[in-house]
Amino acid sequence: MTKEQLNNLLSQMTIEEKIGQLVQLTTEYFNESGEITGPLANLDITEEQVNNCGSVIGAHGAKVTRSIQEQYLAKSRLKIPLVFMSDIVHGSNTIFPSPLGLSSSFNPENAKICSQVAAKEACVQGHHVTFAPMVDLARDARWGRNMETTGEDPYLNSLYARAFVEGFQGNSLTDENTIAACVKHFAAYGMVLAGREYNMVDLSERFLREWHFPSYRAGIDAGSAMVMTSFNTVNSVPATGNKWLMNDVLRGEMGFDGAVISDWGAVKEQLEHRTAANEKEAAIKALNAGCDMEMMTPCYYHTLKEAYENGEVSMELIDTSVMRMLELKNKLGLFENPYRFGDEAAEKTVLLSDEFKSLAKKVSDESIVLLKNNGVLPLENANVVLTGPLSDSNDLMGPWSWQGRFEDVVKVKDALSEAHYIETSRLTNAQISYLSGTVIYVGGEYGNESGEAHSKTNIDLSENQVNDIKRLKAQGLKVVLVLFNGRPLALREILNDVDAIVECWHLGTMAGSCVRDVLLGKVNPSGKLTMSFPYNTGQCPIFYNDFPTGRPLNSNYFDYVSKYEDAPNTPLFSFGHGLNYSDIKITDIKYSSTILEDEIKVDVTLTNTGRTGVEVVQLYVKDLAADVIRPNKELKAFNRVEVKDTAAVTLKITKDMLMYYNDQCEFKYDAGQFEIMIGLNSIDIASTIIVVK
Ligand code: GLC
Repeated sequence: MTKEQLNNLLSQMTIEEKIGQLVQLTTEYFNESGEITGPLANLDITEEQVNNCGSVIGAHGAKVTRSIQEQYLAKSRLKIPLVFMSDIVHGSNTIFPSPLGLSSSFNPENAKICSQVAAKEACVQGHHVTFAPMVDLARDARWGRNMETTGEDPYLNSLYARAFVEGFQGNSLTDENTIAACVKHFAAYGMVLAGREYNMVDLSERFLREWHFPSYRAGIDAGSAMVMTSFNTVNSVPATGNKWLMNDVLRGEMGFDGAVISDWGAVKEQLEHRTAANEKEAAIKALNAGCDMEMMTPCYYHTLKEAYENGEVSMELIDTSVMRMLELKNKLGLFENPYRFGDEAAEKTVLLSDEFKSLAKKVSDESIVLLKNNGVLPLENANVVLTGPLSDSNDLMGPWSWQGRFEDVVKVKDALSEAHYIETSRLTNAQISYLSGTVIYVGGEYGNESGEAHSKTNIDLSENQVNDIKRLKAQGLKVVLVLFNGRPLALREILNDVDAIVECWHLGTMAGSCVRDVLLGKVNPSGKLTMSFPYNTGQCPIFYNDFPTGRPLNSNYFDYVSKYEDAPNTPLFSFGHGLNYSDIKITDIKYSSTILEDEIKVDVTLTNTGRTGVEVVQLYVKDLAADVIRPNKELKAFNRVEVKDTAAVTLKITKDMLMYYNDQCEFKYDAGQFEIMIGLNSIDIASTIIVVK
């Protein structure tokens, strides 16, 4: 439709029809089953209001989306089609690693591949919009949704945000195999106080701008069609009713002109926050803040007509949001083809195709992080003992695995069929006393131990798993711990009891095959952590890009330094850490200059005396004197490179890498000295001082 046609359509709509376009309901209101991802309540709405609603959440399958659309349009006076939205986060039917796993490959192209495959599978099921990417920055391992983030670094998060959006949306939303992206959750949801889900967030504007806005901006600059509000407060105002955040920043500064949807129930939850006395106040605040669509609560339905009639909201304000929803549908080509690319027959060949599983395998292989290895890996053969609670489990996809089916997941036990499998419940001391050699212990977290509404106050490995591992160790076995988990775990208690730790995250459909290939050396692990693994839960939140204090550990203040009595200040495993089966070292670093005018080139030479492998050369910066405290190190460039015997990579330093927000939120850089750190992780680094003119 042309803009003129859209305006003409808008002019024909009644206020009831307009308000309907601002509401999203689950499939239950259309007598179909679908995915429920939030609290269900009786919305107390009329059949007419259901017939006017603009969007449906959680529908899956071409048959269901077509059926709902057909029935809906038959009753629609102006034939405005529904837009279907769902949480297709790290795969639709072929499930890829959770985003925290995807980011561990330090290969944003993998995120693009994941979202391209997801878009193809979603499209053929008649899908239109995905509530992804989630680009919240994470720092607190107690929070359940870390698995859905790409970690603790704003720069890496920004690269992944862009890659996801490009993968989902392709070149045009009228093209087949594309779905609209929805960057979420705006903003700073990952900073919930104490890591407790849905808790308040309290951040300075400076931190918001420096740490959190970059990844949302990257997703928006990549063209994301939608943005979703977050549950949390920003500057003590719930994001969904926050005019500064949604109008001044999102639409004003970031230039976002697409549609904003609330998170599930977040419009009405302003009453729980006690920033709205009733549904009408909640609706008015949300609409004024630019929240165009209300997900699964009835405030807009219950009160906007009356608010308009009382002059509390203008028709212009309502029309602005309605037009954004109509434009979203228009971008998707829904007026011309309400069924878009839904094709029941094509589902049979597209979903979970061998091609998609092969792509998922490659991406999953690259997401695995070898945290520890004393030489026990790679195994010579699969003639090992296999046990552990997740060794015979297909619960390896994690939360938000949409239409991923457990039965399609490759279990470790099936992939390592030659191994001597012992069901964990039979791992008695007597049984263990007969064992020798190497044992693969597969543990970590079940899928429902992380994800939304699953924060923890203790992120240790479970007591049973610790006990099993210690008994196996006591028997003199070599223990290889394979972990499937959503969040960073506190592994200190078993660190010295295991000979290797293979971090697999929620690895997805191809999990078992990837584990087999890494354990047997067919795949040389190459992943690197994008979120710190704490020494213990008490260290949370802990992150590599932390800040100086007035009394650093190495200062000569005797006992009066920044430390703990019962733990180090450093994590157990740091950001950027990850081992491989090669022997790759940085053997030379050359700077084109140590004076930064326009650009400094850093030529890094790597030498490998082992098998061919992949390394990630990382470049960190530290501002040595600024208007405000600056991180002790910030990732500003990296290069993932395969090394046979030797390899050379060039990283560039430019002034835009050194920019920051000062205490007046002015974006600037300082002339003066900076420390540049080069390494294969964030701890073992080689430093050089440069001077910025
Ligand atoms: C959930 C999540 C959000 C998701 C939405 C719809 O509560 O917070 O990420 O997209 O509801 O399922």
